[in-house]
Amino acid sequence: MCSVKEIYSEAKKALNASATDRVVGREKENDEIYDYLASCFGNKNGLSVYINGQPGTGKTFSVNTMLDSLKEEFKFNKIFLNCMSVKNIQNMYKTVLSEMISNKIDSNLAMPKRCTKESLQKLIESCITSIKHHLVLVLDEIDQIETTIKNASDIYKLFELPYLPNSKLILIGIANSLDFTDRLLPRLELTPEHKPKVIKFLPYTKDDIINIVKDRLSKVQLMYDNCVIIDDKALMLCASKIASTNGDIRKVLDICRRAIELNEQEAKLTNLETIKTVNIAQMMKIFNAVNPITNSNLDRNTMPLMQKILLCTILLCNIETKVKEVTLSKLFEKFNKICKSYSTSVDSESEFVNLCILIQDNGLIEVKKAKEVRNYKLSLKIDEQELRDKLQDETFMADILTNRAYK
Ligand SMILES: Nc1ncnc2c1ncn2[C@@H]1O[C@H](COP(=O)(O)OP(=O)(O)OP(=O)(O)O)[C@@H](O)[C@H]1O
Ligand SMILES: [Mg+2]
Repeated sequence: MCSVKEIYSEAKKALNASATDRVVGREKENDEIYDYLASCFGNKNGLSVYINGQPGTGKTFSVNTMLDSLKEEFKFNKIFLNCMSVKNIQNMYKTVLSEMISNKIDSNLAMPKRCTKESLQKLIESCITSIKHHLVLVLDEIDQIETTIKNASDIYKLFELPYLPNSKLILIGIANSLDFTDRLLPRLELTPEHKPKVIKFLPYTKDDIINIVKDRLSKVQLMYDNCVIIDDKALMLCASKIASTNGDIRKVLDICRRAIELNEQEAKLTNLETIKTVNIAQMMKIFNAVNPITNSNLDRNTMPLMQKILLCTILLCNIETKVKEVTLSKLFEKFNKICKSYSTSVDSESEFVNLCILIQDNGLIEVKKAKEVRNYKLSLKIDEQELRDKLQDETFMADILTNRAYK
């Protein structure tokens, strides 16, 4: 006989990102990746695939799971590199080469005495054109390299590696910004038959989200007498809300986990013998805690600092330029500057975009999309006085609006 505590703990574990290696749904996208890679393994040459999609749409998870299953059918080596950690092109080549050495891709391979960009590139080129089995290089968060590798021709050279004569390199680029490939691919000097494949991961729909959560909880429910951990209506509420914003499954898993936690806390008060099902009211409570800005009785303790800074930064830009709209790139730059003095930061441009979308969803700003993310235009949908009322923190606001360091 298991304890109620144990069921809660298993349910929360099942919703952790790393709890499963099973991709639910995404059949079309995964079939496309499979067919393309399988045809390449059966062929001599290299190729490249670019996967585009917003955060939390299962890109990294799908690629890694797919490559693990392909390992059972084909012989190849794999190197996974997150481009957020790349400092410059030399650093990127060096990391790739040291991975190649430690994976023993070629027994003669060694780090050169002088690691110049040219010497590293030459070694990698000669290795990928002489190896027996394919080498799959996954470059995750590939759009980040535009900010670290300043020389565009270095980027093109890297993406042309799979198409060198006899190259056995398969490059899989995973990007968040949807326009990355539109900008990059036409610039590569490739023949039409070498056109890289682009696969889009659209945001998860309400049904996709429900299926993913149910799949994760089903094992736990089966183990414990088919108890229902999250009520269908509560799950539907969560799935519809997230599907109507950005379809980010990470957020869904997090919210469901927190709803279970809340349920557990409330259950503790009544000393239950069986698990209580998470209901709509509890799910709503978590949503309001995640987006406190939608609450009418807002105060400065509940609005997250990042949201406050972002709103004030837009106002500051408006005051400075006397224009009501500001581009995302300009805003991001100033926002980062201000964040530093509050010892906080966002990890990437895509996280910043998410923050903007979240505030837009709360009706406080408008985000007008453009072809390039950096050119998105943002404007406040409330006036200065209303913002003051919402923040209820005159000192904070005055500091941002008048501090010379932020100009
Ligand atoms: N189809 C799915 N089935 C089951 N779990 C999934 C699925 N898609 C995503 N997940 C879960 O969500 C987590 C986040 O997905 P993933 O890291 O692949 O997102 P991503 O698209 O790469 O996001 P980002 O652009 O922020 O890197 C995964 O670790 C996995 O646990
Ligand atoms: Mg990812």
